[in-house]
Amino acid sequence: FMLNKCLFPAAGHGTRFLPATKAVPKEMLPILRKPLLQYGVEEALAANINNISIVTGRGKRAIEDHFDNAFELESQLIGTSKEYLLTEIKEVIEKATFTYVRQPSMLGLGHAILTGESLIGNEPFAVVLADDLCYSPDKGVLAQMLEVYKKYKCSIVAIEEVPEDQVDKYGIITGKLLDESDDTFLVTNMIEKPNIGEANSNLAVIGRYILTPDIFNILKNTKPDKNNEIQITEALNEQAKKGNVIGYKFKGIRFDCGDVDGFVSATNYFAKNNL
Ligand code: UTP
Repeated sequence: FMLNKCLFPAAGHGTRFLPATKAVPKEMLPILRKPLLQYGVEEALAANINNISIVTGRGKRAIEDHFDNAFELESQLIGTSKEYLLTEIKEVIEKATFTYVRQPSMLGLGHAILTGESLIGNEPFAVVLADDLCYSPDKGVLAQMLEVYKKYKCSIVAIEEVPEDQVDKYGIITGKLLDESDDTFLVTNMIEKPNIGEANSNLAVIGRYILTPDIFNILKNTKPDKNNEIQITEALNEQAKKGNVIGYKFKGIRFDCGDVDGFVSATNYFAKNNL
């Protein structure tokens, strides 16, 4: 199939979770027993994407160790009543291939995605921000987005309606509804973190993207913002101006686990529903 790679930007400092994230990557914080990043990788595998590329940084080595065999541990658990506790991660390691690159300085999500170019090459790819944890009972969000990609063959962003007083935390799109039944919008404009009251809509981009590889050249020419970060929203807006971005209102529920409140909600939801 034409889309077989998923990029996970995971180099951020996770300052909102300090001191937990001082030595432990934010993406390794667990909801119940499973680290956020593993949920994301499982979502990619469920969409038949098994080439997993992770953008890491200093202090993130636990990520590589997690997605590798642990010989001592496994030989100790084999044949015991606790062996099942490793079943899921072993399945992930078996199905997926992992490649890594380090982002030397944290210059924003757009820069992290550009750092992934050497792992992705010249083909369309998915992007998952593992701190946005998505759950849908039937089809995972990435699998849903692949259906949309097959139809339109351009960049796809997952969108969600957010309360008016929270638009300043997201990239917000303006779009024309294409098809009410599958909730797709042709994106005409995108703006990063607009002031409350200044946004054209409350349709926010969440941490799931399918990107066409021309995004890399656009990112190379995207200037850093006032915080010296290269924003993916700005690069996507270039594609949107050419009619090449679709917003897709996904089916399911999303938790912003980069934030303590969202993390607690996710934990409660997963515990209550035995997920
Ligand atoms: P966030 O802004 O949510 O992550 O970036 P953060 O910077 O780690 O969190 P806080 O705000 O300090 O608490 C969204 C995603 O983009 C990645 C992060 O790892 C996260 O998954 N990212 C962000 C990078 O990989 N590199 C960057 O330079 C910035």
